[in-house]
Amino acid sequence: MSQAEFSIAAIRAEFPALSLSDGGKPRVYFDNPAGTQVPVQVLRRTEEAFIHKNANLGGYFRTTIDAGDMVEAAHQSVADFYNAGSANEIIFGQNMTQITFMFSRALARRFEKGDEIVLSRMDHDANVSPWLYLAEERGLVVRWMDFDTETYEFPEDALTKVLSPRTRLLAMGMASNCTGTIHDVKRFAAEAKRAGALVYLDGVQFAPHCPVDVQEIGADFVVSSAYKWFGPHQGILWGREELLAETVAYKVRPAGNELPYKFEPGTMSHEGMAGTMGAVEYLAEIGGKVASPRHMAAHAGKRPAVQAIHAAMDALTDYEHTITARLIAGLQQVKGLTIRGITSDNAMHRRVPTVSFTLEGHHPEALAKGFAAENIYVWSGHNYAIEPVGRMGLMDKGGVLRVGLAHYNTAGEVDQFLAALHGQLK
Ligand SMILES: Cc1ncc(COP(=O)(O)O)c(C=O)c1O
Repeated sequence: MSQAEFSIAAIRAEFPALSLSDGGKPRVYFDNPAGTQVPVQVLRRTEEAFIHKNANLGGYFRTTIDAGDMVEAAHQSVADFYNAGSANEIIFGQNMTQITFMFSRALARRFEKGDEIVLSRMDHDANVSPWLYLAEERGLVVRWMDFDTETYEFPEDALTKVLSPRTRLLAMGMASNCTGTIHDVKRFAAEAKRAGALVYLDGVQFAPHCPVDVQEIGADFVVSSAYKWFGPHQGILWGREELLAETVAYKVRPAGNELPYKFEPGTMSHEGMAGTMGAVEYLAEIGGKVASPRHMAAHAGKRPAVQAIHAAMDALTDYEHTITARLIAGLQQVKGLTIRGITSDNAMHRRVPTVSFTLEGHHPEALAKGFAAENIYVWSGHNYAIEPVGRMGLMDKGGVLRVGLAHYNTAGEVDQFLAALHGQLK
């Protein structure tokens, strides 16, 4: 058994759901862009929160004090995940969509009639609709950053073309939940910041696959969802501390004004925060098993907790590239099949392992049903990526069939998927 296979076997053992089967057919989870499975550390942390730390915050008795400590630790663990400078910059919420609606509301006071905002044609609707409402309410002009439908990437001048002296916001994704393309957000963020705009990044599809370093990216906000990176259903926003401090939060009067809590109104999901911390702990822990000295060296200088997490993510990325390349190579053998994303073997670093395709004569929904019959879990349709799916002219054709791999998937599962696809073509 090779080292990689050994590591994957050890990793899979951490996820109870991965060993389940139905009627003798193992469950093949290729629905990861929609939501991932969770390791035991998430279950342990969640259980611990319910049994030992189940109380509201701010009191004098044992459970309230322990719950408070746990909530603080959870913010710090996500600060490590994002390499944030402070836990004050980490805001938990129900999910990315609700957080983005909340922040579009909170930021609204900064915008005046005639100001411009830039949205992207590659984005999930959760980073589009909240800003469209904002634009409608405040009389803002919406400009669209467009991608190349041949290369599935933004041309270098995509932002330059739509920036103006009145641009106040750039909202874009870090990786697409449809094409899988990773965008050069560092460059686009720098360009938008030079023009005086705020930068709000959707990291939902990037964070499960690559290290997120908010200090390096240079944006103002980065948001992701823990349930896409092996945790429970939680959304988490990182925001620049001075910006969060000056932004008015929509909250009840008795609630305090300190960060990060002013943006966490009402009683939060403490068990969700605990489980999220469990997911970060899992990543840090497997770093010790899968990260090589090369991966560690790439993150030298970061605080030890961050280095462990980011080196682990890099090691998982390397592994993911191998199974993604295998999937793409297999799909390219199928006549009439078009992969709607980057395919080049040496460009795996420019995409996440989310591979969408269309197949002549086969409706994506019918294909998804065929895979479900084999206990292989994939999604079809637009998956809320209505901008890119529309831009590719696939809206009235049933969208795409989306196969989304994660680091716990195997080459064997990829082969099983390809065999099932050939089975459907007979
Ligand atoms: C790129 C992207 N952004 C945002 C979302 C919405 O995330 P949430 O379910 O946390 O609101 C998704 C969900 O699939 C997504 O893929």
